[in-house]
Amino acid sequence: MHPALNIAERAARAAGTIIVRSIDRVELLRIDEKSRNDFVTEIDHRAEDEIIRIIRNAYPDHSIIAEESGVHKGNEFTWIIDPLDGTTNFLHGFPHFAVSIALARKGKIEQAVVYDPMKQEMFSASRGSGALLNNRRIRVSGLPSLKGCLLGTGFPFAEQKHLETYLQMFRSLSKDAAGVRRPGAASLDLAYVAAGRFDGFWEIGLKQWDMAAGVLLVQEAGGIVSDFTNGHAYLSSGNLIAANAKLHPIIADSIRPFLTETLV
Ligand code: IPD
Ligand code: CA
Ligand code: CA
Repeated sequence: MHPALNIAERAARAAGTIIVRSIDRVELLRIDEKSRNDFVTEIDHRAEDEIIRIIRNAYPDHSIIAEESGVHKGNEFTWIIDPLDGTTNFLHGFPHFAVSIALARKGKIEQAVVYDPMKQEMFSASRGSGALLNNRRIRVSGLPSLKGCLLGTGFPFAEQKHLETYLQMFRSLSKDAAGVRRPGAASLDLAYVAAGRFDGFWEIGLKQWDMAAGVLLVQEAGGIVSDFTNGHAYLSSGNLIAANAKLHPIIADSIRPFLTETLV
């Protein structure tokens, strides 16, 4: 295993332990609303501090971009961290959330882990070495069309400006798919595409820490990731489609008619 992936896994497990220990006392936690419907708890902060402590110990010169504490400037290696992806689920005792950690070099994601501490599922990938779930190889699904497929998505919950566009996309995709799910943790949605549990996924307005690790998981599992115009600007635009190679263009075609200027 690549030494940086080993550190990422160790950090993700440590953060997962902090999160799981507090799931029974969420009503006692200090909660702040960063913006409309965007919550953060003291557990997000504690988990992030622990991840950064472990990474800093191993790689004191690396840069870090972390959801709660922002940018820590260092060299060309950058760790992109979401200490608790799915905070709203966590706050409701809904047991579906994850720790997401990626390592990029000059903007290219090289290592990735997404860890579900409730199911103890560790999704990991090193560029060029494939994707794993608890050390077993995973692959995207092979479904060639929307017929029979299960899609993941995220609803626009913070800002309402894309809601109408989103609903048009949803209508178009859901009429042909077997099902659409909104589990509530984008990093796990992408890990599920990598594992073939979802055939495809799309969401508007993600942040880079929601998707950095999941993107490499999907790519290393044989899938395709793009923004809504088949480009690679998803980390900056936040608009993302991920799917197996046959389904990806079908999802892209299905949502293209509804793209507004702000989404291209
Ligand atoms: C959120 C989750 C959710 C997605 C949102 C994210 P957070 O992350 O990934 O599934 O729909 O866009 O902000 O705030 O729980 O870390
Ligand atoms: Ca997130
Ligand atoms: Ca988060």
